[in-house]
Amino acid sequence: MSSPSGPTTGRRVLLGISAGIAAYKSALLARLLKQAGCEVRVVMTQGAQAFITPLTLQALTGEPVRTSLLDPEAEAGMGHIELARWADTILIAPATADLMARLAAGMADDLLTTLCLASDAERVMAPAMNQAMWAHPATRRNAARLAEDGWRLLGPDSGDQACGDVGPGRMLEPEAILEALLAAEQAAEQAADTDKGPASGLTVTITAGPTREPLDPVRYLSNHSSGKMGYALAEAAAALGARVKLISGPVALPCPAGVECLPVETALEMHAAAQRLAPESDLFIGCAAVADYRAETAAEHKIKKVEGEDALTLRLVKNPDIIAAVAALPEARRPLVVGFAAETRDVERYARDKLARKGLDMVVANDVSREGLGFGADDNAAVLLWRAGSRQSSPKGDDLGRDALPPQPKAQLAEAILRRALACLADRQSR
Ligand code: C5P
Repeated sequence: MSSPSGPTTGRRVLLGISAGIAAYKSALLARLLKQAGCEVRVVMTQGAQAFITPLTLQALTGEPVRTSLLDPEAEAGMGHIELARWADTILIAPATADLMARLAAGMADDLLTTLCLASDAERVMAPAMNQAMWAHPATRRNAARLAEDGWRLLGPDSGDQACGDVGPGRMLEPEAILEALLAAEQAAEQAADTDKGPASGLTVTITAGPTREPLDPVRYLSNHSSGKMGYALAEAAAALGARVKLISGPVALPCPAGVECLPVETALEMHAAAQRLAPESDLFIGCAAVADYRAETAAEHKIKKVEGEDALTLRLVKNPDIIAAVAALPEARRPLVVGFAAETRDVERYARDKLARKGLDMVVANDVSREGLGFGADDNAAVLLWRAGSRQSSPKGDDLGRDALPPQPKAQLAEAILRRALACLADRQSR
């Protein structure tokens, strides 16, 4: 990836700032964009001005800052439609829950939303809000709608929040936002250079990260999946020329360049997104660590401790098996389906069983008990097992192809998995 102090890009960036405490970091972002050679013009919502002054941004960018749609003086300089056309990229950082809702609804009730509606520029946003607001179903819906409308969502990051909460909702750091922007530009240049990769013309849908199953408004059931493997697969698929859709549970990773990200929270949301996208895909990779169970009903209010009771019983119900449901689609709408089997013992035996039971075409089996590999790590090793047709039978005579991939960085492993999946796809199409 490019360093944040990378080469002059000459890109015209319209930096939109909305009313979040993270707005104080937008000043550094404006500076970094300028240092990277971008032309920067800033538009602030009314609320943003309560957190940082237009004068600060004007001093940093050397350009007047726009704050109002109905400003005759500013309109006489560069009218808002002109400004919308001027931008190569609209970058909103921070993007609040309210702004996301207004954009998702297609509203144009202030200068920033009007510009977004009037522009065909690349659209990127870095959401920032309280973790409960980010987890709220309304925000989930809006994030999914915005991703569908072509917005690239960067973050949010997880961790301590200004309000004292801990969880996902922090704006990505300005350096990470800039890096993601420059990487997208590089990826577009590379795509133009190489024109076609081995996966060009193919649509690949990937699930990644954990799911989060609410127990009440502040608690949930989840797991330690970092999303690294799924994101590495998405990045590798994009680099091979595919159109990539990444359905991701809550993780602390930015959406990879050139990838369409659909942020989800629960297994049911991930299932709905997979059911919608899989029939339009050539390849579906289920890399998410989906919670097997969810609370039968999430409590409307915070569950209180009961004095004198030492135990609390939660009733859980099974979540749908997302990948099995994709594999069970009718042949005409069924992509090639690749699943993961993360096990701590008898890895291959369980993987073979999973391949058959879930109706998969290929399974990536890995031993997550090996130190430094698997969950959260940067490296991974895997055995690939795939339905091979009659030509390549495994020594066990069960008509499976087999390839053992040694420990290696997840990015490298991702490419090897994809190349094998592409070979399976070509094999299937030639039959
Ligand atoms: O059943 P198990 O969780 O071990 O299977 C792992 C594989 O199944 C992974 O590919 C995972 O993404 C997928 N899976 C799913 N929906 C579930 C559970 C697992 O898609 N509810």
